[in-house]
Amino acid sequence: MEFQEVLNQRYSVRMYEERPVEEEKLRKVLEAGHMAPTAKNIQPHRVYVLSSPEALEKIRSLTRCAFNAPVVLMVSVNADEEYHCMFDEGVVSGEEDAAIASTYMMLEAANQGLGTCWVNYFPHAETAKAFGLPENERLVLLMPVGYPAENSVPSANHTKKRPFDEIVKVL
Ligand SMILES: Cc1cc2nc3c(=O)[nH]c(=O)nc-3n(C[C@H](O)[C@H](O)[C@H](O)COP(=O)(O)O)c2cc1C
Repeated sequence: MEFQEVLNQRYSVRMYEERPVEEEKLRKVLEAGHMAPTAKNIQPHRVYVLSSPEALEKIRSLTRCAFNAPVVLMVSVNADEEYHCMFDEGVVSGEEDAAIASTYMMLEAANQGLGTCWVNYFPHAETAKAFGLPENERLVLLMPVGYPAENSVPSANHTKKRPFDEIVKVL
């Protein structure tokens, strides 16, 4: 798919088909995330693939925003590895790194004809505990992945954009 077409046709999918995501397609999505840049190339993020009935049941019991996707990616950052800014104490890059990798995965999924949704409506600490994540990992987001249901359409928010010049300022 042309890159512009990928950008144009991506939207947040909240209803999925039951059919599973092919292994090769999922692998391409995960590999796209693996290509993403990170601060100092530390790669402090971790991506957990939830696709077993048990894992899906667990994540669906923790948030309604896992929807009925056949795969949910759970992205975390390792607090012992993330880059700390040399100038400002407390400024760390873990969430940025996880977000960039996740954006790569979201766009590659769209390129594969798959739908996704970026989700932060879930109890982060409780979810990390439920899945037995190491103590030094902070969960950043969930990303349901699957084929959009036949009646899935973009929400009204999809096309609501602030004027370009309100966002972009030339100084
Ligand atoms: C940081 C972030 C958090 C989000 N969290 C949720 C969420 O918890 N549940 C949900 O249904 N959508 C969530 N979304 C999706 C946004 O609502 C959606 O991207 C926005 O309304 C624009 O719509 P579009 O993605 O269809 O273009 C989130 C998006 C971002 C970037």
